Amino acid sequence: MKITKICCIGAGYVGGPTMAVIAQKCPHIQVTVVDLNEQRIADWNNPDPEKIPIYEPGLSEIVAEARGRNLFFSTDVDNAIDEAQMIFISVNTPTKTYGKGKGMAADLKYIELCARQIARVAKQNKIVVEKSTLPVRTAEAIKSILDNTGNGVQFQILSNPEFLAEGTAVTDLLNPDRILIGGDTTPEGEEAINSLVEVYANWVSKNQILTTNVWSSELSKLTANAFLAQRISSINAMSELCEKTGADVNEVAKAIGMDSRIGPKFLKASVGFGGSCFQKDILNLVYIAKSYGLDEVSDYWEQVIIMNDHQKRRFSNKIVQTLYNTVADKKIAFLGWAFKKDTNDTRESAAIYVADDLINEQAKISVYDPKVSKNKMLSDMDYLETRTKEENLKSLNVFENAYEACKDAHAIAILTEWDEFTTYDWKKIYDSMHKPAFIFDGRNILDAKQLESIGFVYNGIGS
Ligand code: NAD
Ligand code: UGA
Repeated sequence: MKITKICCIGAGYVGGPTMAVIAQKCPHIQVTVVDLNEQRIADWNNPDPEKIPIYEPGLSEIVAEARGRNLFFSTDVDNAIDEAQMIFISVNTPTKTYGKGKGMAADLKYIELCARQIARVAKQNKIVVEKSTLPVRTAEAIKSILDNTGNGVQFQILSNPEFLAEGTAVTDLLNPDRILIGGDTTPEGEEAINSLVEVYANWVSKNQILTTNVWSSELSKLTANAFLAQRISSINAMSELCEKTGADVNEVAKAIGMDSRIGPKFLKASVGFGGSCFQKDILNLVYIAKSYGLDEVSDYWEQVIIMNDHQKRRFSNKIVQTLYNTVADKKIAFLGWAFKKDTNDTRESAAIYVADDLINEQAKISVYDPKVSKNKMLSDMDYLETRTKEENLKSLNVFENAYEACKDAHAIAILTEWDEFTTYDWKKIYDSMHKPAFIFDGRNILDAKQLESIGFVYNGIGS
């Protein structure tokens, strides 16, 4: 089937950018992105493309080009489902916070609601594409709902996981390493797979489009995230050993990364990985393995999370210890709050947990982040439920620029690797601080020698 109308349920960090790129590259396809969240849709429709809800380099230009031409954002989910031949499900799949599997399993309630809505509305055959990251064998549940509650029409379920990383979403979507499409091995399944292959073939070469069975595709997504996160936990584990032995983790990473079997990427030691997916997807993997009785497999992957939690806590402990074992009433400046540079996303950002630890020690935190609003930071703190909103408001001050945030601080902690942090007048910042002035570089982005020559006491990760 030649696809001319696509609907995507979920206008978030994946649905928005992915559909914007499909619309840009396929002007002959009408793409409608729908969401229950009225504010989010209103923001996507903001006449000023600079004000769209997600910050990603290059995204506003693509939205400006395609929006109103063949890219539409709407809250009318039923209508978009009814019109489309192909429906992407791109809703959130967070860790369950209740019941069986609490704290580990993926919460599939939003996925099930989508499946039920598609079943209710669809009057013609549809291809349903899992874009969200899902536990292996979720397609079975979706198929069962569609077939048992639908109007007798035929559904084909495809798995098409998304591998974009935030901050580089547009380049990742334009030049993907691969596109993965899983489907049934029946003639109808193969026809559905081909329909989706033809959509991507508008800009991705066919030898980068990999087709598999549904279960391999679903599990490959969890596996990819687990392997990436494992590399970070591995290098972070080494960073602690480096600090004890006089080795330098940056040098170690460079030395091992030049081995072509290991490769240089994802070897940057840090305060710990954040983001909405690594932790949730590994916990999900751990839960799935456990539910099949594979205890060794589940323990193996759980260690990646245990190491990451340790790394975040180790960073805040180091600040307290270095500041003479007390940070009570001391001002600690945070540069960065986003979970990585070039995004306004703060989900699971290490900054939140480090701030929480330090506020428990009665520190005063002053934050500057180029893209994250004060309200977002405060709501991240409130979400932890460690203390009241009023207490968070008193302990966390947000500034419009780094120089103000660092003024009169006892220490600076770098929590996000924003490029602009490397361009500052660090002498000016040093002069405005309490002495001795400490820097805890949780991203190893600053020039230690230069800062030490100014007078800073510099602490990187793993050196
Ligand atoms: P998100 O929270 O930013 O967006 C999800 C959107 O779905 C929300 O706006 C929500 O209102 C909407 N939604 C939920 N239920 C709905 C329903 N029944 N009808 C209409 N709208 C509904 O999430 P995200 O970051 O875009 O992630 C979506 C999925 O993609 C997750 O499974 C995630 O694991 C996966 N993923 C995310 C990334 C990433 O970089 N964020 C990358 C790859 C994969
Ligand atoms: C990650 C994967 O890279 C994507 O392929 C995947 O699609 C996505 O998860 C997802 O499923 O959501 P993302 O979380 O957006 O993407 O960003 P990453 O670049 O992977 O960074 C994740 C975290 O690890 C960040 O906090 C980053 O600072 C940290 N990190 C990354 C390190 O500490 N060291 C590194 O070497 C690399």
